[in-house]
Amino acid sequence: MISDGVHNSVQRITYRAMTEPDISAVVALEKAVFPDPWPRSAFVDVVTAPGWGGLVAEIDGTVVGYACYLIVDVEAHLTNIAVAPEHRRKSVARHLLERILSVADGQLCEFILLEVRPSNHEALAFYRKHGFKVLYQRPNYYRRPVEDAIVMVKYFDRDDTET
Ligand SMILES: CC(C)(COP(=O)(O)OP(=O)(O)OC[C@H]1O[C@@H](n2cnc3c(N)ncnc32)[C@H](O)[C@@H]1OP(=O)(O)O)[C@@H](O)C(=O)NCCC(=O)NCCS
Repeated sequence: MISDGVHNSVQRITYRAMTEPDISAVVALEKAVFPDPWPRSAFVDVVTAPGWGGLVAEIDGTVVGYACYLIVDVEAHLTNIAVAPEHRRKSVARHLLERILSVADGQLCEFILLEVRPSNHEALAFYRKHGFKVLYQRPNYYRRPVEDAIVMVKYFDRDDTET
């Protein structure tokens, strides 16, 4: 049982920035989880290109989850998030998402966007749980297999009223 969401009685899950040495493990997990995985070069961009960032969750040095984001001006984008099947429903994705929301909020983003397959009920449930709302459906966005994307958004509650 997880007491504070980061530790459990058996395994300690740690969260940190994705770096170049993580890429092979992240690519392996990406291939295991998605039918249309990102190539290695995309993750090189995540750890090197301006505006991009990534986080990994690890247990005893093994990557069990990751999430990537892109921030452009006031717009943040959750570009991907995945957790190894044997470590799901342990709040790993929640911790990754909360950290990305905190980064985006800290950079004064106004909202965060994402795309998800309509058939991905687990991810839709996860995003709804965390306050994302459906913005619109983008036809034929995905390949392998072809499918629409549901575009979701979450606005940051920031009181910009000057006193
Ligand atoms: C979606 C995904 C990242 C969730 O990861 P996770 O670590 O299992 O999620 P969490 O444990 O943080 O879940 C937080 C909450 O989200 C909701 N949720 C997560 N997975 C769910 C599922 N399979 N069914 C229903 N609700 C779910 C629940 O409300 C959950 O809280 P609870 O466990 O207290 O009920 C994971 O299922 C995954 O890697 N899926 C494959 C990759 C993927 O589809 N990524 C998204 C691409 S758009």
